[in-house]
Order: sequence, then C-alpha cells, then structure tokens
Amino acid sequence: MIVAIDGPAGSGKSTVAHAIAERCHLTYLDTGAMYRSVTAECLRQGIDPADAAAVTRVARATTITFGTSPAGQTVTANGRDVTAEIRTPEVDRNVSAVSAIPEVRTAMVELQRAYGETGDVVAEGRDIGTVVFPKADVKVFLTADPAARALRRAVQREGGDAAKDASATADPAEVERILADLNRRDQLDSTRKTAPLKPAPDAHHIDSSSMGVDEVVAAICALDPRLEAAL
Ligand code: DC
Repeated sequence: MIVAIDGPAGSGKSTVAHAIAERCHLTYLDTGAMYRSVTAECLRQGIDPADAAAVTRVARATTITFGTSPAGQTVTANGRDVTAEIRTPEVDRNVSAVSAIPEVRTAMVELQRAYGETGDVVAEGRDIGTVVFPKADVKVFLTADPAARALRRAVQREGGDAAKDASATADPAEVERILADLNRRDQLDSTRKTAPLKPAPDAHHIDSSSMGVDEVVAAICALDPRLEAAL
C-alpha cells in the first residue's frame, strides 16, 4: 500500500510519516531529502543551482541511499554521508531552485516510483498525491499555521521535536529567520510550473497547528482499516 503525505515545509510531515512507517511497518520515503541531496551535491561541486543543464546532470549522476542510525534517518549521496549537510541553511536557500527544474523532477520521480514498487511505502513531499503516486491508497495534505511551522523547525535545529513536546521553545530571532525562509520557499514551491505544492483533489486535509504527533498519526490511520489494524 502507498500512503502519500504532502504539505508545506514544517507542517510535521517528516515526524508523522516516520511515526506511521514505524508503527504500521511501512517503508519511509523522504522525497525532500532527495532534492536536498542533489542540491548539496551541486553546491559541493560549485554548480550554480540556476544552471538547469548542469544541475540535471548532477541529479542523474547522483546515487541517493537511505539508512537508519540511532539518531534517525541517514542519507548518502554517491556514498558520502550527507545527513547533516542537507539540513544546512545554504541547502534550504537553494533547494527550491533545484527542485523547480523539470528534468530534475523527472529523475527523482522515477526513483520514487521505483521505491513504491518495493512494497508498502509512506512517502512525504509536495507532489506525492498529485504526481508521484496519484493512485495512492491514502492521501493527506498536512498543513499548520506559519508560526507553528517556524517554531517546529527552530526547535528541530536545536535538537528537539516540538511536534512531540508542546512546551518546546526556541530563540525568537531564529524563529523569525526560519519563518521568512519557510514563507519564501512555500511561495516558490507552490508557484512553480512543474508539480507545484498543492493538494490532490482527493486528499484529506489535516491542520496540525494544535495537534500532537500521536493525534495526527491516529487521524491518518483512521483513514484506512489496514493502517488502523497495524497500530
Ligand atoms: O520537505 P523538505 O523541506 O525537506 O523539502 C525540501 C524542498 O524540496 C522543498 O522546498 C521543495 C522540494 N520538494 C519538492 O519539490 N517535491 C517533493 N516531493 C519534496 C520536496
């Protein structure tokens, strides 16, 4: 079965998709990490993210693999561990430009669909329910208000998880900076020509602003008896 979770940056997709994967025994696919890995690889090679032809060559030549460590998911690009590198502000600033290139998307979507062939998958991103897996068994569009999303990202940067700890706080200046970056990225991601961020017509909308991770997981699992049975 395929569970598709789409939504803007910081809406809690990663935490929720990861929890569903663990609890319901599905494979977790973080498609944002794939676009981030291509971006990190371009930056390392000194390639301008606006140079579509060069970025496309990098996307096609980069082998991305996922693994696990006690701290969570690990990611490698051409055998190099990029787990930390793909979360840097520099990658945040450039990933929307990279992911807007149609040929880059074609290459990534092909890899994502191949993942879907391997069995039961919970995939999170921007175009999972609309483009990658339009026939997904469960489609969710997860949102949260911008202030909640920025706080979650800031807490995450400091090693916490605001989706799990409702009392978590972060430096207000850092929250402001992240909020500006999220708004800029959402604007770019939802207005690009190819596969923009938008809900599939048949997606279930969930606003996680005032919900804990367990509540969101339960709401999603209630959408399919197989997920509910596995909880
Ligand atoms: O989910 P994230 O913040 O790690 O995603 C990073 C960027 O990758 C995001 O700004 C848009 C892009 N992305 C995309 O275009 N399509 C996806 N399926 C996933 C992410």
